[in-house]
Amino acid sequence: MALRVAIVGMGGIGNVHAGCYVKDPLAKIVAVCDIIKERADAAAAKYGCPAFYSVKSMLKSGIKIDCASMCTAGKENGGDHYTPTMELLNGGIPVLGEKPISNEVPKARRMVALAKKKRLRYGIDLNHRFTPAARLARDWVDQGRLGRLHITNMTMWINNPNETSPHFHLRALHPHSIDVMRYFCGDVVSVQAFMLQGKTMDDRQRKCWSNAQVNMLFKNGVVGHLTGSYDAGGGFGLERCEVTGSKGRFVLEEACEELTFYSRASSETEHYHHLGGMTGFGETFASRIHRWLEQNQKKVAPSKVDGCAEDALKCQMIIEAAIKSWHEKKIVNLKY
Ligand SMILES: NC(=O)c1ccc[n+]([C@@H]2O[C@H](COP(=O)([O-])OP(=O)(O)OC[C@H]3O[C@@H](n4cnc5c(N)ncnc54)[C@H](O)[C@@H]3O)[C@@H](O)[C@H]2O)c1
Repeated sequence: MALRVAIVGMGGIGNVHAGCYVKDPLAKIVAVCDIIKERADAAAAKYGCPAFYSVKSMLKSGIKIDCASMCTAGKENGGDHYTPTMELLNGGIPVLGEKPISNEVPKARRMVALAKKKRLRYGIDLNHRFTPAARLARDWVDQGRLGRLHITNMTMWINNPNETSPHFHLRALHPHSIDVMRYFCGDVVSVQAFMLQGKTMDDRQRKCWSNAQVNMLFKNGVVGHLTGSYDAGGGFGLERCEVTGSKGRFVLEEACEELTFYSRASSETEHYHHLGGMTGFGETFASRIHRWLEQNQKKVAPSKVDGCAEDALKCQMIIEAAIKSWHEKKIVNLKY
């Protein structure tokens, strides 16, 4: 039987989630919710379900909900997630939240703790890792094809002129890049960062720390580096992830588009173009959401959720460590 799904926050991304649920046989949208009445009403008409204007009234209505998407935004694209997420979790509903889990680590911790206490599945839309190419690359890591992991290099950059906060770039974009790095290399224990306020294309000086170079030491000894920017675009592409090891390395481009394995012992390469038929980043929403639905239908233990809220919390902790490192000019060690 299809899972009864509610969506909270019917802006651009709430509607992307809705489009994925509509096409997925594992889901049926039973409620939409937005504090902006027109948005909730328009979505209700489009998806054929009741509209609500607060999570509280949605829960009070008694409508049966198996799981919910949390697609609010707010400061640094994560400031509004906390209150409605806590309301859903307190109401006993598993949540798939948007990234960043929160722009404030203490609030992220409280949400993760509540989900744990209530034994609820709590995932985050860390969609960049939910691609057939990333899955295969992770299998290579797990099977030892790269040997002992040595280095990871990640680049993620786009054009985003948003100046609403000094660290909007790191907090809003880099949950994605850091999650992919962690997916392949595990937990990070130390962070050091340099940052630069770039210029817009029309030569205006930015206030946002829109360029960052972040070094990371992983628990397993891997040394990693993230290059991030909101001053890219055009021919820059979006992302490139490389992992090297004692036996070989791989390069994963645009999350799903190109995956290449390079052996250390030979010049032969193994190359996949659009593995699994996935052609672009836009398709990662559907694959991530499908996995979330599958895991809910199978009632997997909350600790087994792929791209779980705890992963997202750890990404934000790394981001805060990078910010601290830059402002205090020191290496910051992380304790989980
Ligand atoms: N995973 C990805 O690749 C990806 C890509 C882009 C954006 N995002 C994330 O998606 C989220 C949403 O982005 P967006 O561009 O759709 O934002 P948006 O501002 O267009 O939409 C957010 C909606 O949430 C509503 N809202 C706010 N508080 C609410 C509450 N308490 N209850 C109900 N509704 C509430 C707002 O009225 C608004 O309609 C952000 O967190 C953003 O970072 C993720």
